[in-house]
Amino acid sequence: MGLTPVHFFSHGSTMMLGEESESADYWKKCGDEALERNIKGVVIMGAHWDCMGDKIELSTNPNPNKSPVAYVHPDKYQNYKLNPDLETTNRCIQMLAQEGFNVSGNDTFDWIHDVYLILIRMFPGGCPPTTLVSANARYDPHFHMKIGSTLRQLRRENYLIIGTGGAVHNLYRNRWAPMMRFRDNFAMETPPEDWAMEFRQAVEDVITKTSGVQLRRAMTRLMKHPRYRDAHATDDHFMAAMFVAGAAGDEEDENTPAILGAESWELTNMF
Ligand SMILES: [Fe+2]
Repeated sequence: MGLTPVHFFSHGSTMMLGEESESADYWKKCGDEALERNIKGVVIMGAHWDCMGDKIELSTNPNPNKSPVAYVHPDKYQNYKLNPDLETTNRCIQMLAQEGFNVSGNDTFDWIHDVYLILIRMFPGGCPPTTLVSANARYDPHFHMKIGSTLRQLRRENYLIIGTGGAVHNLYRNRWAPMMRFRDNFAMETPPEDWAMEFRQAVEDVITKTSGVQLRRAMTRLMKHPRYRDAHATDDHFMAAMFVAGAAGDEEDENTPAILGAESWELTNMF
């Protein structure tokens, strides 16, 4: 069996946990495939946990709670049992420390919907052993890419590496009214705006037309795209894409095919 695949998922709004969508179906399919290949565990970076200074942390909380989410019935997530993989987490801390990262465990961190929304949708029957890696609030693309390239070797051991963030994610440019008034995150009175479509296309081009080290260069360069700041008012939801590029962009990954597996637009301009 070859290396495990690597996924970047746009988790969207909190309502993606409770509503059916093409993306939710795709996440489940990816989860089923992972279970079929009997993965050892999941290593995941989200968008909602960022450490200050030059630090990164990994969750060493043996019993993490879930930060509550708005617009979702608690039945959809409260009883789902998270499954932190402390052994692999400690191993990842060692691996990252050896590469020079200022990294430590955090045994009080509660997990956030960016991560548990994806786990619940992928693995509704039970959470695989999971290692949760924070991002860093300086939002340096190359720094996050290096976290991914450091942990890439776990793909050889049948661990599934996931980044969860957003491809087009600017909360200031979303149209919130249908969600606030009617609880409808998918309502669209107009198509997404041109800046959103343009950046979405740039992301697809990078993912599907580059591979190996070229993927890493192209993915980090997206942060200099003329539409980047329209698509991401803040950088937090794009760091996991850099992590994924590190994990999937080695020389050995050259010519590995990649797809844009699902596309859901919410709040008019978020993908
Ligand atoms: Fe988010």
